Amino acid sequence: MEGFSEELVSALKEVVGHSNWQCVGEEERFKSPCTKLYSEDGEHLVLIHTNGKFYAMDSACPHEGGPLEQGDIEELCDGRLALTCPWHYFDFCLDDGSSTSGLQNQVYEVKVCEGKVYIQTQNALSLNPWKKTQPKEPGNTEATGSTQAIGDECSLTFWASKILCTPDPEEKAKLTHQVQELWNSGRITEIGHTEPPVQPCRKENLTIVQPGRIKRGKGGTLASRVALLHSLANIEQWAIDLSWDIITRFATFELQTGERLPKEFFSDFVKVAGDEAKHYCLLEKRLVDLGSRFGDLPVHNGLWQSASDTAHDLLGRLAIVHMVHEARGLDVHPQTLQRFLAQGDDSSAQVLEVIYTDEITHVAAGLKWFTYICDKEQRDCLTTFHELVPLYFRGYLKPPFNAEGRQSAGMSEEWYLPLVKPS
Ligand code: FES
Ligand SMILES: [Fe+2]
Ligand SMILES: [Fe+2]
Repeated sequence: MEGFSEELVSALKEVVGHSNWQCVGEEERFKSPCTKLYSEDGEHLVLIHTNGKFYAMDSACPHEGGPLEQGDIEELCDGRLALTCPWHYFDFCLDDGSSTSGLQNQVYEVKVCEGKVYIQTQNALSLNPWKKTQPKEPGNTEATGSTQAIGDECSLTFWASKILCTPDPEEKAKLTHQVQELWNSGRITEIGHTEPPVQPCRKENLTIVQPGRIKRGKGGTLASRVALLHSLANIEQWAIDLSWDIITRFATFELQTGERLPKEFFSDFVKVAGDEAKHYCLLEKRLVDLGSRFGDLPVHNGLWQSASDTAHDLLGRLAIVHMVHEARGLDVHPQTLQRFLAQGDDSSAQVLEVIYTDEITHVAAGLKWFTYICDKEQRDCLTTFHELVPLYFRGYLKPPFNAEGRQSAGMSEEWYLPLVKPS
């Protein structure tokens, strides 16, 4: 007993004497499995309490910034525990932050001493948001929810807004292909100016839940494959809307030089919209082949946040949606593909390959127009990118990166490595 007390006292001394240990409160306070802890530097943490043990890791998912504090704790095949992101179900091992997706989250050491919980980090932590890291106000979302047409029905933005207001994803994809055809054949010539809805419409019977409430089957089962395909179809539905939103929201955008965006900008994003519609259809077909269909599982709307945040800022939109989120999609492709191949699901793997090839061109489109605007406005592209990403993206970018895929899109390491947390 005496030995135990000495051990405790020396552990306590170590904790108190070491400035990198932050006391976050009484053990009693952390009864729920996940508690978000706000860090002064904006890289917030999640404290996990399970099976009588504490763990800590960054709360912004290294994939696309999903809220890990709303995730579920699950057991990995090797028996270790993992926190599963509610957005696309990637797991992060509680012990070391590794993920079967190939991504890596930052973990922190946690100690409990005399009923108090300590986390090893240099940054001050709080149970409440720090004033300076309060979430920023969403951008200019003055639109009223219905679309307001200026111009005629032959304009591209009229159709873009109409597609955004189409709730049925199959209908949305079909209309997208029709408008793409009309644009490519020159039957739509005007860009026009139609106010987009604040948020795209969704089917009434689609169950939209808080991200943390989505459940999935255990890894390796048909249910888990269906859940993953379903979440990818949800991403593609949003991707169709994001393409039409950039077209109609920035239709009258003027560069600092007073110039408008060239027609080629709109052509590029019509092409992106068409690709996303194709991706949705391919995934929906796979779901049907596997005995499910889109809408069978609940979905979340977390992906629209970046669109709202950058509704007033075209460079911000290109940076976050196309050069951060879509580039992250390239990073996770090899491991996601492996998951399907390992289960002999070659048909789904083929769909993922098609999507991957197209997504490289979407990152390239984002990069192309980001650098176009920067060049015209005589801004340094890299500096502008490195300033904008922290403004709109939750947390640092985290390795590993698919350097080859990113390079194929023209994105060299100098774009993203400076946005990794300094060690
Ligand atoms: S898995 Fe977390 S954001 Fe995609
Ligand atoms: Fe896509
Ligand atoms: Fe895309």
